[in-house]
Amino acid sequence: MKIIHTNLTLIILCLVFSCNSNSSKPNSTTSLVEEQLNLSKMQISGLLDTAIAIKKIPRTVKLNKEIRWTNSNFDWTEGFFPGTLWYLYEHTKDDKWKNGAQELQALFESHKHVTNNHDLGFVFNCSYGNGYRLTKNEAYKATLITAADSLLTRFSPKVGCIKSWNVDKGWQSKRNWQFPVIIDNMMNLELLFKVSEFTNDSKYKNAAIKHANTTLEHHFRQDYSSYHVVDYDPLTGTVRHKETAQGFSNESSWARGQAWGLYGFTICYRFTKDEKYLIQAKKIADYILNNAPEDLVPFWDYNAPNIPDEFKDVSAASITLSALIELDAYTQHAYFSKIEKLMYALSSNTYLAKHGENNNFILKHGVGSIPHNNEIDVPLAYADYYYVEALMRYKNAYSKN
Ligand code: GLY
Repeated sequence: MKIIHTNLTLIILCLVFSCNSNSSKPNSTTSLVEEQLNLSKMQISGLLDTAIAIKKIPRTVKLNKEIRWTNSNFDWTEGFFPGTLWYLYEHTKDDKWKNGAQELQALFESHKHVTNNHDLGFVFNCSYGNGYRLTKNEAYKATLITAADSLLTRFSPKVGCIKSWNVDKGWQSKRNWQFPVIIDNMMNLELLFKVSEFTNDSKYKNAAIKHANTTLEHHFRQDYSSYHVVDYDPLTGTVRHKETAQGFSNESSWARGQAWGLYGFTICYRFTKDEKYLIQAKKIADYILNNAPEDLVPFWDYNAPNIPDEFKDVSAASITLSALIELDAYTQHAYFSKIEKLMYALSSNTYLAKHGENNNFILKHGVGSIPHNNEIDVPLAYADYYYVEALMRYKNAYSKN
């Protein structure tokens, strides 16, 4: 009787432990994630058919409800849709997704030589980077190396940063900037870290580390919110201005910028294991989570003047969700309950489109740039990319035994 009792106690303890263990979570969120991956497949399948037929890459939906395709000259969003296809290939192992990704990313392969734009990390890491991760195709690796070389031409040792925007034309030329660096630029560093691993050449990762350290020093306020733009003097490396481009005001906290910072410093910790990046990522996460509304999907700027009568930005939420899932693994699952909450929120009817609606994008209610009156309350390819990435990260981190 006693042995039976002891065994029973053990079985109960094991059951309790396995139900509480975040690394093996056979719970309802796991089924939700599977359901959302299947829904994503159905939505993106419709979008893929149209994209392949006309050889264009979807970016968002215009006011007239037609799809806006990426600019074929260069578009910071062009890597996201092929990247989403790569995640669906990883999920299904169905060649349809791989073929689609290959065909669409080939449309911008020549952009690996672009040196007048800093968004090469977004463009190539999300597309060719995922492609290489899943296929080990050596041609993709070569493309990533060339893209990293082009990106490195924008690194200034004097400033200790990669220059974000050229200031010789367009709206950037009207802001009196000389060497503007935006918090978004942290997202280019993953490409550099990876290419150092591919080539055994530390110059890429050294630039990434220098960029991260300079950003850590100048981009953040005492509460760990960040400025959007820091403008440097290219001759001396000193800070000239701290401003915004896509946020409400210079002193406000643009929501997607906070998400880019969180994701970027989490990546820096992944590649370097330097504790200061982990501390920074945790502080940014705490800022986001302490200032987010009840459902954790932020308004487009944490200091927007008319909250709650402001647009939410689902892209800031999906980037944050994906980053938190990675950060959770480095922090004894400190963020697990928030991850669950945000996953449920994004997967609710409020933000998730029904099959066949939303021009076959997955999420509704993204914001591109309110100050530029551009892409407001619309689906966005990058919101979808980070949502599908988060679903795959959740599945890989918590759903396996
Ligand atoms: N620069 C990318 C963004 O709008 O977040």
